[in-house]
Amino acid sequence: MQRRISPVSSISGAIALPGDKSISHRYAMIAAIAEGDTRIQNYSTGADCHSTLGCVRALGIQVEGEGTEFVIHGKGLDGLHAPAGDLDAGNSGSTIRMLSGILAGQPFRSRIFGDESLSRRPMQRIMRPLAEMGARIQAREDKYPPLEIDGARLRPIDYALPVPSAQVKTCVLFGGLFAEGATSVTEPVRSRDHTEIALREFGAALTVERQKITLTGRPRLTGRELMVPSDLSSAAFFIVAALLVPGSRLAIHGVGLNPTRSALLDFLAGMGAKIRIPELESRNGELIGEIQVEHAPLRGGIIEGGLTAALIDEIPVLAVLGAATEEGLTVKDAGELRVKETDRIHTVIDNLRRLGVEAQELPDGMVIPGRQKFRAATFDSFGDHRVAMAFAVAALRADGDSIIDGAEAASVSFPEFWDTLSRCAQFR
Ligand code: S3P
Repeated sequence: MQRRISPVSSISGAIALPGDKSISHRYAMIAAIAEGDTRIQNYSTGADCHSTLGCVRALGIQVEGEGTEFVIHGKGLDGLHAPAGDLDAGNSGSTIRMLSGILAGQPFRSRIFGDESLSRRPMQRIMRPLAEMGARIQAREDKYPPLEIDGARLRPIDYALPVPSAQVKTCVLFGGLFAEGATSVTEPVRSRDHTEIALREFGAALTVERQKITLTGRPRLTGRELMVPSDLSSAAFFIVAALLVPGSRLAIHGVGLNPTRSALLDFLAGMGAKIRIPELESRNGELIGEIQVEHAPLRGGIIEGGLTAALIDEIPVLAVLGAATEEGLTVKDAGELRVKETDRIHTVIDNLRRLGVEAQELPDGMVIPGRQKFRAATFDSFGDHRVAMAFAVAALRADGDSIIDGAEAASVSFPEFWDTLSRCAQFR
């Protein structure tokens, strides 16, 4: 599907966004192995989170509801059933990696697969710790989906993550739920902690000491009422749009502002962005607030080390922004970008060049000089939701109408993206 995007005179108004993708996955998976009903409001409308619901259903869990509100009838740690067929994770790395931790602890075999993009993403990062815990996992070429998981009585482990990955951390912690004793995960840098927060909400005992998380296996998890905050990574496209287009002023309601996710706002503020959060509240252990942003000229900056890990999903749209800053943007230590839904270093640079923007590709990053003009073009999402949305944002400031090819990819995390964009796009 193609979308035509015209340059705008400003991005203005007040918008609400769908529920956080990371949190929605976790709530649905934990609800399935909790005892009793969990009602989830503002569940992500993205296809990825629906892949998770599909898998949960295929494991014998009743899920009722539609739109953004679901009730999951959890059956406890021992309540899942062997699926009748293969589990379909679609495009979702979170579904396959995190759910594998639960599948590894089951007394049955399951097979989980995904689409073409997911079938090229590395899985050894979860296969190693789960094998150490006692599960047997086979993969295509020993590293790619589909995964065939022979569940087992898992042993607790003390695992040091070789790559910073909240998905892998979650996988090991989910496995640890089924093991007798204490399972620990130590992270090289602190990654998003939605799993830790959600497990506590459902009643698990969990301690966090610096970068080491320890949980006691076989907890009693109980169903509850939960509300998912709006997704900061989806908000990022609109925040950047407002910063890019002169005269913009935008408010985004109810956004999740968990400190392990909100490095984006500090990074932008550090470059001179005008961002305000009038008040914060806490819901189900997660911080939430309204983000108010207005256009401002930005200095530019460097994303490297731990900051790269903290901003990993936002780099495509920050790369677009970088080209319009005074000093440009440099991204380092971002080898992980090459194994996302697409090789995002390559797909972002390809589209930046279509935009008429000069950019240098590094093995693990990119250098984008500042003060560049945006030329209207036909962009290619390469089937990657964040690439589609990042270049729709770029097109708002181009010198004519642009086309986004493969625009449907946005639905993976944000089906309402195009409607929301037309709602806050102002034309003089
Ligand atoms: C996610 C973790 C990140 C992120 C992904 C969602 C999560 O992946 O890129 O979009 O929900 O835990 P990694 O764990 O591979 O860094």
